[in-house]
Amino acid sequence: MSHHVELSELTKVYATPKGPAVIVQDFNLRIAKGEFVTLIGHSGCGKSTVLSMLAGLNDITGGVIVLGGKELVGAGPDRGVVFQSPSLLPWFTAFENVMLGVEQVFFTASAEERREIVEYYLTVVGLGESMHKRPAELSQGMRQRVGIARAFALKPKMLLLDEPFGMLDSLTRYELQAVLLKLWRENRITTLMVTHDVDEALYLSDRVVCMTDGPEAEVGDIIPVAFPRPRERQAVMDHPDYYPLRERLIEFLEIHAHSRKSAVSATFEAKPGVISDNVRKVATVPVS
Ligand SMILES: Nc1ncnc2c1ncn2[C@@H]1O[C@H](COP(=O)(O)OP(=O)(O)O)[C@@H](O)[C@H]1O
Ligand SMILES: [Mg+2]
Repeated sequence: MSHHVELSELTKVYATPKGPAVIVQDFNLRIAKGEFVTLIGHSGCGKSTVLSMLAGLNDITGGVIVLGGKELVGAGPDRGVVFQSPSLLPWFTAFENVMLGVEQVFFTASAEERREIVEYYLTVVGLGESMHKRPAELSQGMRQRVGIARAFALKPKMLLLDEPFGMLDSLTRYELQAVLLKLWRENRITTLMVTHDVDEALYLSDRVVCMTDGPEAEVGDIIPVAFPRPRERQAVMDHPDYYPLRERLIEFLEIHAHSRKSAVSATFEAKPGVISDNVRKVATVPVS
């Protein structure tokens, strides 16, 4: 089977004052067309490094990335990228910020067609009433909606999301997860999303890729998530496979992520269970 995206033996070495640091080594991953994959791992393991190489924003030290049958060189509009906070031009409205990209990508479309595209995506993300406001007049969650609308409006081959909801309160996060899922279902864009939220990974993705701790981070485990689609959050959480999958992910983060290191306990001690604490906190949120 041919895959839409292939990361083969992907390696990243950063130059540091103490010499070269091998952050990611021999990272292998195949993603099918239209698949939604999440990438999970401890802070600092190299998730953003992998994503930014895929985005073409970070040089590849070794290995190769193939997208749609072609070796990837540099950044391009065929990949939509959403970070924790979107880079919006402050003097432009939400509409104008999205239009900026749409004009470049759909330069053969009529002005009317372009306006329709921008309005459509801004409306789907819930900004129908606010699309003519400037970033300063929008909340953080609304600005992130603009970023998501912009990414989809450009109809990329692939969507790359780096903890896009990491800075949002949980209510906004839940809303935006549902918006993202709806847009993904309608557009079927191949998606790779970095998250450290186990429940987010299980709600959204077809597979969860667990990354080992760096240095020399690689793919540690790949967990298929087969909940039927379209997904409704409560139905997913009520599914008999939900808690076993969740436990498997938490266990990976607590134990196996460190298994590459010989001094497992020392590493574990050095990183208090930030992720598992967060995960447990989410678990105590009433789910009725
Ligand atoms: N430009 C850089 N130069 C040197 N080290 C870097 C650079 N960018 C990231 N790193 C280091 O690489 C490691 C992985 O970083 P990153 O990919 O941001 O991790 P994550 O996204 O999983 O939290 C970290 O130790 C970080 O300090
Ligand atoms: Mg990161």
